[in-house]
Amino acid sequence: MRRKLAAGNWKMNGTIESLEMIGTLAATYKDGDCDILICPPATLLSAAATWVRNTAVAVGGQTCHSAESGAHTGDVSAEMLRAAGADYVIVGHSERRAAHGETSEMVKAQAEAADRAALTAIICLGESLEQRESGEALAVIREQLKASVPDDAAGASVVVAYEPIWAIGTGKIPTMDEIAEVHTQLRADLEGRFGPEGGQIRLLYGGSVKPDNAAAIFAIPDVDGALVGGASLTFDDFSPIVTALNHS
Ligand code: PGA
Repeated sequence: MRRKLAAGNWKMNGTIESLEMIGTLAATYKDGDCDILICPPATLLSAAATWVRNTAVAVGGQTCHSAESGAHTGDVSAEMLRAAGADYVIVGHSERRAAHGETSEMVKAQAEAADRAALTAIICLGESLEQRESGEALAVIREQLKASVPDDAAGASVVVAYEPIWAIGTGKIPTMDEIAEVHTQLRADLEGRFGPEGGQIRLLYGGSVKPDNAAAIFAIPDVDGALVGGASLTFDDFSPIVTALNHS
């Protein structure tokens, strides 16, 4: 059984005051029908971890370097995230691929570093609008999957998030059929490559997930949860998404 995951990506948002919503989440969702994760900016991670200690909520980083330590000004290693209290790390988000030139090979090395540090990597992939409109979406996504997921990935050690770039922060989402098509293909590819272990890797959808579309997205087979940006910043927006996942 794959445990469902509601993951929040705060990106470059939030202050120490914002962390209170994590405490409210932890107080509200105790039994944990689904896993709940918040990835705040790295500067807030240690403080966020104190809010979730001994609760059903986890915290994670938004990226990591593939090396353990060294001369990498501005970077943070997976080991450092783990030491700060993280259980997960997002890698290969399209904003990092675009703004920091991260390739799938680099993303794979980051996911391997995460595994060494006992972090679950959430590996992001997804097509641009141009690729969607020219009918290349599936081919692009499959190539990213192949190149970004480590060869020794096992069921619980990685999560894959399908995030169409054009749906991120835009309020636009693919049709339910389009999401289903991608998730079915990702599942088939993971099973083809990893056998039964590939059937255990969780597949998230991300890109403009909101309280009013979450239930429909979670009803799609092989959608095991969501990676949520804007709507993860406040309890009032994120909570209905977690509840919809619990009920799916
Ligand atoms: P969004 O972001 O929910 O604000 O569209 C999703 C993401 O980038 O992970």
